[in-house]
Amino acid sequence: MKTYLVTGGAGFIGSNFIIHLLRRHDDIRVINLDKLTYAANPRYLKPIEHDARYRFVQADICDRMAVREVLQSERIDYLVNFAAESHVDRSIVQPDVFIQTNIEGVNVLLEEAKRAWQIDEDTYQKGCRFLQVSTDEVYGTLGPTGRFTEHSPLNPRSPYSASKASADLLARAYFETYRLPVNITRCSNNFGPGQYPEKLIPLMICKALTHQGLPVYGDGLQVRDWIYVEDHCRAVDHVLRMGKPGEIYNIGARSECANLQLVQWIVDYLHEQVDDTISRNLIAHVPDRKGHDRRYAVDPQKIERELGWSATTNFTEAMEKTIAWYVSHPEHCLKRYLDAQEERRGSAADGSFPDDLP
Ligand SMILES: NC(=O)c1ccc[n+]([C@@H]2O[C@H](COP(=O)([O-])OP(=O)(O)OC[C@H]3O[C@@H](n4cnc5c(N)ncnc54)[C@H](O)[C@@H]3O)[C@@H](O)[C@H]2O)c1
Repeated sequence: MKTYLVTGGAGFIGSNFIIHLLRRHDDIRVINLDKLTYAANPRYLKPIEHDARYRFVQADICDRMAVREVLQSERIDYLVNFAAESHVDRSIVQPDVFIQTNIEGVNVLLEEAKRAWQIDEDTYQKGCRFLQVSTDEVYGTLGPTGRFTEHSPLNPRSPYSASKASADLLARAYFETYRLPVNITRCSNNFGPGQYPEKLIPLMICKALTHQGLPVYGDGLQVRDWIYVEDHCRAVDHVLRMGKPGEIYNIGARSECANLQLVQWIVDYLHEQVDDTISRNLIAHVPDRKGHDRRYAVDPQKIERELGWSATTNFTEAMEKTIAWYVSHPEHCLKRYLDAQEERRGSAADGSFPDDLP
């Protein structure tokens, strides 16, 4: 029986991860520690809320005593940290909370995991593992060719990616200095059901469904490498169970696409399948994001070769599944989208937020 402590488990990837775990393994327990920020989607976890193997704790990862209480009262085998402020645009406008959660919070988790698991100087509770969920954005931006490997230099270019890179360095330091069994995973852009509609794919779907302009940054030729969230969840569990302590694993599906091309695909699909009044006329180019990374592409050969994981989901099928989910959950997509707009309008009044965050 393994016990997972999943921090940030009410967010997009964390909630998909918890559902994945409970579906896949019978003999586990999962504790979800989440602060429930604006990005959390606890409703997505409703189907497993009453599962005897699941427990929810509302807390901030920066709250040392709350984290300690969970780690001391339960015998945790795996701590997986998804908790983060995750939206680049927000980090450009309000970086402080990114520093708090993404750096200070990770410091608390590492220190408390060490405290709970350490037996003597170099020995830890058998089989324990700390996994820091990171991002390919820590590597910065690429030109038209090449891919990020685990040896690519860290070159973060936004407050978000700088905060994630800082957390990676802290996690690695805990391995090097204290031999805490740590892994870091660096995944490409995720998509799938349950994502907060400020990120590119759900934002475009929600806007298109409500016949609003679809804001595309600059020329729209920025390239992102996409992965279906379930493939990412499988990879994280794989690393927890099979990864070598101290190692970093890139996670990706070799699925590059320019933003404009992706938005056009979404519009065309909605036009064909859902509402023929949705058209490419809705696409509107807006001034580019400050310091916008031009291209990301992840080389996943290490995790494929060493751990036998690979992405298995077909991109088009996964996009169709994703769009179908948003169309059939208007309460998630449209209500949260409208709430987000409301929130932005409120913050924009004091000049702290741009009108739109594609
Ligand atoms: N979304 C992507 O494409 C992507 C890609 C690679 C890596 N990642 C990383 O994966 C992780 C999860 O991303 P996501 O898209 O699911 O994010 P998300 O914004 O959807 O969810 C983040 C979750 O963390 C919680 N949280 C935030 N601050 C907290 C705090 N101080 N204490 C406790 N909980 C807190 C929120 O309530 C929310 O439930 C992040 O670390 C992110 O950097 C995301």
